[in-house]
Amino acid sequence: MKVFDTINETENHLKSFQNKSIGFVPTMGALHEGHIALIKKSVAKNDLTVCSIFVNPTQFNNPEDLKKYPRTLDEDCKMLEEAGCDVVFAPTAEEMYPNLPQIKLNFGYLEEIMEGKFRPGHFNGVGIVVAKLFNIVKPNKTYFGQKDIQQVAVINRLVKDLSFDLEMIVCDTIRENDGLAMSSRNRRLSKGARDLAPKIYESLKLGEKLLLAGESTESVKSKVSEFYLNYPEFELEYYEITDFESLESISEHNPKRRTAIIIAAHLGGVRLIDNHVF
Ligand code: PAJ
Repeated sequence: MKVFDTINETENHLKSFQNKSIGFVPTMGALHEGHIALIKKSVAKNDLTVCSIFVNPTQFNNPEDLKKYPRTLDEDCKMLEEAGCDVVFAPTAEEMYPNLPQIKLNFGYLEEIMEGKFRPGHFNGVGIVVAKLFNIVKPNKTYFGQKDIQQVAVINRLVKDLSFDLEMIVCDTIRENDGLAMSSRNRRLSKGARDLAPKIYESLKLGEKLLLAGESTESVKSKVSEFYLNYPEFELEYYEITDFESLESISEHNPKRRTAIIIAAHLGGVRLIDNHVF
């Protein structure tokens, strides 16, 4: 496995694979089995798998969150090598941004809801860094996790609107045995917070149960608020019940369509997101 920290070395190395299929998994490192599942999917379907590891400063709207984001490059590289990854691109911020980008990306409706609303500028940062990475790696296929459902919608738009010639593959959320969605931020949870964290997934499953029993989204939301009254350690940022395709709010579950319940909550100083589609 090759590890590069400059754009030049990465591009030069990848030039010799022009006639091969390249699968690409962008990450911010502190890798876990969720990331590795994406790598393994890529390894199975492509001649070459590239993983980027870059804690992208421009997508953090909270400087504390950026500072505390775990950085574990050596461990990450071990996991990637074991999973069969071929190339790691792990640039510095100076390498990626010799000058801060002047353009601004606006994803319309997606900016106004959930992550767009609560993390202003976040998707501008995600969109620009992913576009830059696509231009550097020039992948045939790219792999993203359903865990970040709104990010998937944003990258789909980016690919369409800027005509990136690649296929996007979305992979299921990988969970711990107790239901907690794997996340790099989980390692920042204290023991007490970690024990409570599966309540997030429990509240998504509760929503599903009530919606399938015919309850309105309004009634589900109020029951979920009551559920969290039992766990005051959580600070709920949003709990949205949306159509899976459009991510627009719905008033009840339509059995002919897929519903997504999407949540963001703070627990012990860590912001966690999750979703459940049915
Ligand atoms: P990061 O949070 O490191 O996630 C990298 C990829 O792994 C994303 O596509 C994310 O959805 C996926 N992922 C994370 N946890 C997962 C889980 N439990 N199961 C399945 N997939 C999971 O998302 C980012 O980085 C950044 O925004 C990035 C796209 C790299 C741009 O900076």
